Amino acid sequence: MIIAPSLLASDHAHFGQGAARAAKAGAEWLHLDIMDGHFVPNISFGPQVVKAVRPYAKNIFFDVHLMCSKPEILLEPFAKAGADQMITHVELGERVESIIWKIRQLGKKVGLAVNPPTAIAEVEPFLDKIDLLLVMTVNPGFGGQEFIHECLPKIQQAEAWRREKKLKYRISVDGGINNDTAAECARAGADTFVAGTSLFGQRNLKAAVAKLRKIVHANDPALADLNIRRGQI
Ligand code: DX5
Ligand code: ZN
Repeated sequence: MIIAPSLLASDHAHFGQGAARAAKAGAEWLHLDIMDGHFVPNISFGPQVVKAVRPYAKNIFFDVHLMCSKPEILLEPFAKAGADQMITHVELGERVESIIWKIRQLGKKVGLAVNPPTAIAEVEPFLDKIDLLLVMTVNPGFGGQEFIHECLPKIQQAEAWRREKKLKYRISVDGGINNDTAAECARAGADTFVAGTSLFGQRNLKAAVAKLRKIVHANDPALADLNIRRGQI
């Protein structure tokens, strides 16, 4: 399981400190939301900010979520700025394949995101080419929104495909993730949890990460199977 605090929910005047807090709190990844004011109705930050933040959290994995209409022009700048993975959106249609290829060429991990109104079937042709599938559980653009429960069957489908096709992509969820909704997502098959408001909103980030981790672990379907077999449930 991976916990990825979303920097968008940290103090925008002190992104470096926010990244350092996430790393010290024991999170494996830092999620960085890139919004271009076109693909989504908001603007966040660009490669120069990511580059400036990188030294504050040297060992954490930078999970860069590109909510951008033209990711092609941003891939190299973000790769140079310190991204470990770049996530593009399936809503970009016929350009998705070449964007995935470009991210790979840059030597970075590849993620593919799907928005709530988009059918999960849209991602199926790309599943053997990606490292992570990001199931958006809010309409992207803003932190602090309410989790959309109708997205849960998409997680189940992503998990079923992964099993049937013997693939290894991670299944990430992003938007409105807190201790309750993370448990629901874990039961549906998610293994990577992006959380902004519910983590950075806590004074003790380390304790909040540990609690989220414990809850996800307790709701891991593999563990539930094991407990059923052991007669514990
Ligand atoms: C939404 C972003 C999310 C956001 C999540 O557009 O993609 O990553 O930071 O924030 P919370 O956890 O506050 O919903
Ligand atoms: Zn995001």
